[in-house]
Amino acid sequence: MAAMSIEAASHSSSLHAPAAGAVVHPRWVRITHWINALAMFLMIGSGWQIYDASPLFDFLTFPPELALGGWLAAALLWHFAAMWLLVINGIVYVTFGFVSGRFRRKLLPIRPRAVLDDLAAALRGRLSHEDLSVYNSVQRLLYAGVLLAGVVIVLSGLSIWKPVQFKYLTALFGGYDTARYVHFFAMTTIVAFLTIHIALALIVPKSLRAMILGR
Ligand code: HEM
Repeated sequence: MAAMSIEAASHSSSLHAPAAGAVVHPRWVRITHWINALAMFLMIGSGWQIYDASPLFDFLTFPPELALGGWLAAALLWHFAAMWLLVINGIVYVTFGFVSGRFRRKLLPIRPRAVLDDLAAALRGRLSHEDLSVYNSVQRLLYAGVLLAGVVIVLSGLSIWKPVQFKYLTALFGGYDTARYVHFFAMTTIVAFLTIHIALALIVPKSLRAMILGR
């Protein structure tokens, strides 16, 4: 292990908390995270209004109080406006994430055994939140998973927005109708993620503080 770099060492152990005041989340992560949160809420709210105009499932419509826009045309305008925010901000975050090495350092490796162990520890209330700069395996899986869901929701969205211009993409999803279902289930995945994610942020408020102030 002598070859382990200082950087790797500083990110591979949750035994040591970072020095008080050390930066946990750099500014670019915090800015893109909160822009993404705003864009996602606008996309989901307006998406529910659009869905209600032509539901995929007989048993499901979204309550108007939770939907954004009030009616179909306004919801479409919200959806396509927030789309630019989501996509441009997402490209900035993903580019910085790869180029800076953050994704590799923070999200990898993800091993099934470690995920199960951390999940069991979390359910018994024994998971350490001492070192906010190291994500546990459950966090890694959730964050990598939601990034993937983000890519799928954007690509399936493009497929149903411009099925003629993006006809190969639409075909990749199995056609317009299937792409609509894929878009819906990607939204469901992101909403499920958000329910857990926001609950955890409230249960561990210092993680919320770090995502706002950086330290
Ligand atoms: C009100 C809404 C939200 C709150 C309060 C919130 C809170 C937080 C907090 C506190 C962290 C740091 C977690 C930690 O240290 O373990 C975090 C990280 C993260 N959040 Fe959120 N979040 C919100 C919305 C979202 C949304 C909409 C998404 C994506 C769909 C998202 C994706 C992520 C990801 C990927 C990370 C890891 C970022 C990185 O380290 O590069 N969050 N969030």
